[in-house]
Amino acid sequence: MKVLVTGAAGLIGSNVVKILEEKGAKVIALDDFSSGNYKNIKDIKGGVICADILDESIYLKLPKVDAVIHEGAITDTILKDDKKMIMVNFEGFKNVFNFCLKKKTKLVYISSAGVYGDGPSPMKESQAARPLNAYAYSKYLCDCHASQFMGKKILPLLVGIRYFNVYGPGEYHKGSAASMIYQLYLQMKAGKRPRVFKSGEQKRDFIYVKDAARITVDALGLKKDLIVNVGTGKARSFNDIILALNKAMGKNLEPDYFDNPFTGLYQDFTEADISLLKKNFQTPPKFSLEEGVEDYFANYLSQFEQ
Ligand SMILES: NC(=O)c1ccc[n+]([C@@H]2O[C@H](COP(=O)([O-])OP(=O)(O)OC[C@H]3O[C@@H](n4cnc5c(N)ncnc54)[C@H](O)[C@@H]3O)[C@@H](O)[C@H]2O)c1
Repeated sequence: MKVLVTGAAGLIGSNVVKILEEKGAKVIALDDFSSGNYKNIKDIKGGVICADILDESIYLKLPKVDAVIHEGAITDTILKDDKKMIMVNFEGFKNVFNFCLKKKTKLVYISSAGVYGDGPSPMKESQAARPLNAYAYSKYLCDCHASQFMGKKILPLLVGIRYFNVYGPGEYHKGSAASMIYQLYLQMKAGKRPRVFKSGEQKRDFIYVKDAARITVDALGLKKDLIVNVGTGKARSFNDIILALNKAMGKNLEPDYFDNPFTGLYQDFTEADISLLKKNFQTPPKFSLEEGVEDYFANYLSQFEQ
């Protein structure tokens, strides 16, 4: 199988590339390297194309593939340039979509749990979208566009994935957009007490990238079009992350709580409803937060300088 992976130098894209190649697929990795890191794909066996998904001329040069996994996007949710955000994430998505349409290729594209905004949790794919920023809105537009074609056999397969909070190896380039796990790890590694909003009981659905990437690849084997949440279905607190990091790192650093400046605007609890994931995928996420943090630290963070 030949698969084009966009955003291949990013956190999740690079893990998708790795899994695909381990499964024997031929991979073409496409990225414009605007935020991803070349080090994430330095061991790739397949081809690399440095290109912008907005550039329509690139699609004429791409070879025929069996499937596209479209991870490429601006992922810095606090970027203030709404035009750029929506242009890359939505118009770029439509270019990829049209390429798949023309070549009759399977498409797994990436949306986000961000589309639920401050909606109720556990978040269900069927609930109303409430995008609260241009990033979430750009992903919502992708879902609206894709939804019109779902079930109509216009593509051999069309799947939208709504990741929750992904963490793990390959996120070192992401700066303030990196996971809470990595941010707190960096503070603790420097011997500082991990700083979190009072009283650390805010909860998020953290999913290890090995699970998120594996499920994304598994999506290529689905028999029907759908939009699906990819989370663990278990919200965990910032205090839980600190406990898991302390254990993995052999430290005993107390949290340093500070007042949340976004009180009233900040979501204290987000969790995926993963009924649809469990119904359609043979293997749901395997890693608990503790197992993910342990694997991340033991096999990656402790092994080299990021
Ligand atoms: N990490 C998360 O928690 C999370 C949560 C929900 C959704 N997502 C989505 O998952 C996907 C992957 O996210 P990630 O965490 O790996 O982010 P990332 O920033 O590490 O990867 C995104 C990649 O896209 C590339 N890219 C950006 N603009 C491009 C363009 N115009 N042309 C070609 N490549 C371009 C970047 O260089 C980068 O390598 C994104 O679509 C993101 O919106 C991520």
